[in-house]
Amino acid sequence: MNKPTDLSATTFTLNGQHAQCQPAPGQRLSEMLREQLGARDVKIGCNAGDCGACTVLVDGDPVCACLMPAQQAAGRAVETPAGLHANDPIAHALGESFQNHGAAQCGICTPGMMASAVALLRANPQPTETQVQDALGGVLCRCTGYRKIIDAVMGAPALTRDAPGHAGDAIRRLDGADKVAGREAFGDDIAPPGTLEILVIRSP
Ligand code: FES
Ligand code: FES
Repeated sequence: MNKPTDLSATTFTLNGQHAQCQPAPGQRLSEMLREQLGARDVKIGCNAGDCGACTVLVDGDPVCACLMPAQQAAGRAVETPAGLHANDPIAHALGESFQNHGAAQCGICTPGMMASAVALLRANPQPTETQVQDALGGVLCRCTGYRKIIDAVMGAPALTRDAPGHAGDAIRRLDGADKVAGREAFGDDIAPPGTLEILVIRSP
């Protein structure tokens, strides 16, 4: 006899694998991915749809996971930056190009940039600079001035998975690989599940 279906469960694919969760009413997709499924590669910046750090692909389209109700993932294909980097040669080439161009600096925007750029390059393998700017327009970066990121996206199609760097490339940062793969842990990423929260209230 089949196990009865849990009607409150949200079932979808996460980076190509079956996933099932029971999000609380109103829970954000970003929170479900991070807190219930351990996807700490989905970064949280503003939690308000402004910064794009939380960008994931849903059925191939970039969305701010902090704005999407978790239940809306039902039946959809969700891809996170780490999954993209592991599974998609385009994302891997992008990661190499980001490192070659010094486009991942503090790294908090990098997963969102990478997810947005993968969606662009899947649809348009040779984008113009304007198309790159448009595709990345929803993700904010406070470190790079965007030039290095745009150059990295435009340089990615020329790279293959095994291509080495070239003479004249900028020296790679030692911590770049973790940033482009979504493995870099920031303050909000290292709290173990169940950690009590502290609300810090400062003087206005
Ligand atoms: S955390 Fe989602 S847009 Fe900033
Ligand atoms: S690399 Fe720091 S915000 Fe973009």
